[in-house]
Amino acid sequence: MKKVTKAVFPVAGMGSRFLPATKASPKEMMPIVDKPLIQYAVEEAVAAGVTDLVFITGRSKRAIEDHFDKAYELETELEARGKHALLQIVRDTVPSGVNCIYIRQSEALGLGHAVLCAASVIGDDPFAVLLADDLLDGEGAGSVMKQMVDVYNYNRCSVLGVMEVPREETRQYGIVSSERNEGDVRRVTAIVEKPDPAAAPSTLAVVGRYILTGRIFDHLRNLKPGAGGELQLTDAIASLLQEEAVLSYQFKGTRYDCGSKLGYLKATVELGLRHPETGAEFEAYLSARHGRI
Ligand code: G1P
Repeated sequence: MKKVTKAVFPVAGMGSRFLPATKASPKEMMPIVDKPLIQYAVEEAVAAGVTDLVFITGRSKRAIEDHFDKAYELETELEARGKHALLQIVRDTVPSGVNCIYIRQSEALGLGHAVLCAASVIGDDPFAVLLADDLLDGEGAGSVMKQMVDVYNYNRCSVLGVMEVPREETRQYGIVSSERNEGDVRRVTAIVEKPDPAAAPSTLAVVGRYILTGRIFDHLRNLKPGAGGELQLTDAIASLLQEEAVLSYQFKGTRYDCGSKLGYLKATVELGLRHPETGAEFEAYLSARHGRI
């Protein structure tokens, strides 16, 4: 039985919505409290049993490679100063037993193209895809990718992480239609990239988490440009589900759209309130501030 041990992180995007912050540094390195977005995604994948992390990078993304590399000078300095807690934080950035692979996507041709860049590393194995600007907080239910891996292990077919969105927002997402049933796991019957609200087949949106079988690569190779003139992963999934079953899974937890300023601020507030160092004082600050409005 093939396990999901590889994850692809497409991180070549421009991050134009956060300019000028993203002029010289990757949007995936923007921190929520004290951890960069990409680290949340990596931790979610590692908690799901992933051991090979495949980053699809582009220009100005060197900081991601540095972040997941050993920082000798910093570690020596922290050790010399006796800052053991900080040293541990630095060392824990890359969990042990994990392998980081970097592939450069030289042209930004779309998410489908980014995933296709990982084909030679993934081979025929099932694999995860995580978009780091969707921060998924599994809360009590644990890593969302782990929840999805459980669904994969039971059903042995591709799984898309989905949630309900307001109909007026369907233009921002891949939208699925699925067989009617009450459960959180459903068989997908169609998927379409960024439909107009009036044309959207449902309001179930894919939010940056996928488990795909190796068969997806054949469909990615045959892709024609789709929405926005880009090679869309959604279109390859639409083609894949003509051939094999694809499931949607309504995960347990909260999604923060950290690709938008508002979502990013919401994540910062929620995770700041929960952070052991800042939580209590931040909460007091917010309630005092609320009293003043
Ligand atoms: C991408 C996908 C889309 C998905 C979304 C989730 O779009 O193409 O299907 O619903 O991520 O965040 P993007 O946000 O990169 O335009």
